[in-house]
Amino acid sequence: MDEKEILILAIESSCDETAAAVIKDGREVLSNVIYSQIELHTIYGGVVPEIASRKHIEKINQVVQAALDQAEKALADITAIAVTYGPGLVGPLLIGVSFAKALSFAKGIPLIGVHHIEGHISANYIEHRQLEPPFACLVASGGHSHLVIVKDYGEYEVIGRTRDDAAGEAFDKVARAIGLGYPGGPKIDKVSKEGNPDAIHFPRAKVVESAYDFSFSGLKSAVLNYLNGCQMKGETFSRADVAASFQKAVVEVLVEHSMAAVKEHGFTKFAIAGGVASNTSLRKAFVEACEKEEIEFYYPSPVFCTDNAAMIGAAGYYEYQKGVRHGNDLNAVPNLRLGE
Ligand code: KG4
Ligand code: ZN
Repeated sequence: MDEKEILILAIESSCDETAAAVIKDGREVLSNVIYSQIELHTIYGGVVPEIASRKHIEKINQVVQAALDQAEKALADITAIAVTYGPGLVGPLLIGVSFAKALSFAKGIPLIGVHHIEGHISANYIEHRQLEPPFACLVASGGHSHLVIVKDYGEYEVIGRTRDDAAGEAFDKVARAIGLGYPGGPKIDKVSKEGNPDAIHFPRAKVVESAYDFSFSGLKSAVLNYLNGCQMKGETFSRADVAASFQKAVVEVLVEHSMAAVKEHGFTKFAIAGGVASNTSLRKAFVEACEKEEIEFYYPSPVFCTDNAAMIGAAGYYEYQKGVRHGNDLNAVPNLRLGE
């Protein structure tokens, strides 16, 4: 083995994906194993934390072993173990953290706790070898809608965040209301292709005090009111039109706020991350907006947008290079903030 090769074994279990990956020198994915629990939670219309925890316990050993096998590596080859320790659901997080601590302790491998959002942002490094900080990044997932300045590796400033629902949460709630089921994002994305995005005008919420903050609960309520109105009048509604019009409203707000931040801060590079970043309409809108403003635009493949461990490995590599090491007292922090 090349002596300088740095291999990170990464573990992610913050929500409903049990995931493990082996990453070489920060950007090369040797394996990326994801066990998705989605089907298990679909009948409940969302993630049930207790069920997620139990499934993580059942699967984690297998998933980590599969990641090592697919990478054709043994634990003895691993330089450091990176694990998501927050934010997320406390039970699911604890499974990954405990597993990583046990491996680290038993095998004497250094341990690095990684922030989940830092992982999402770092997903961009995997397929864009030339991308380096500084750049601006929109992180839009089921739990977060953040506008982040990536000052350097591991150095972040959050300049905008949601005041209520995250973008992905709004997708999931609206999808449920129009009978598409969970998880809503990919389903709205698909059905919107058959709808008219200008059929219904839903509000684009602004947060008065902060141009970069988001608010999606008003939009969600507007969709619910529209559906109630249809029901009361005995009218049917077009699912595709509601989906497309809602999606257009979300995309417009995300693009407008992000581009304002990029321009005002004078960035030449912009990236997106998180589950919502796999939305086809959002990607298209950003391609166009960035082309117009002559901004370099970066986005990960869909598999690296939604939760995965490869992104945690990429982030873990840069934390490792900075000398970050965690002890066996590392704990799950469900509300961990970025930059702390
Ligand atoms: O990043 P992620 O896997 O988990 C969190 O950290 O939250 O994001 C999951 C979220 C869900 O709300 C899901 O509906 C949304 O991302 N999502 C999408 C798409 N694919 C996933 N939203 C819109 N369009 C998509 N194609
Ligand atoms: Zn996530």
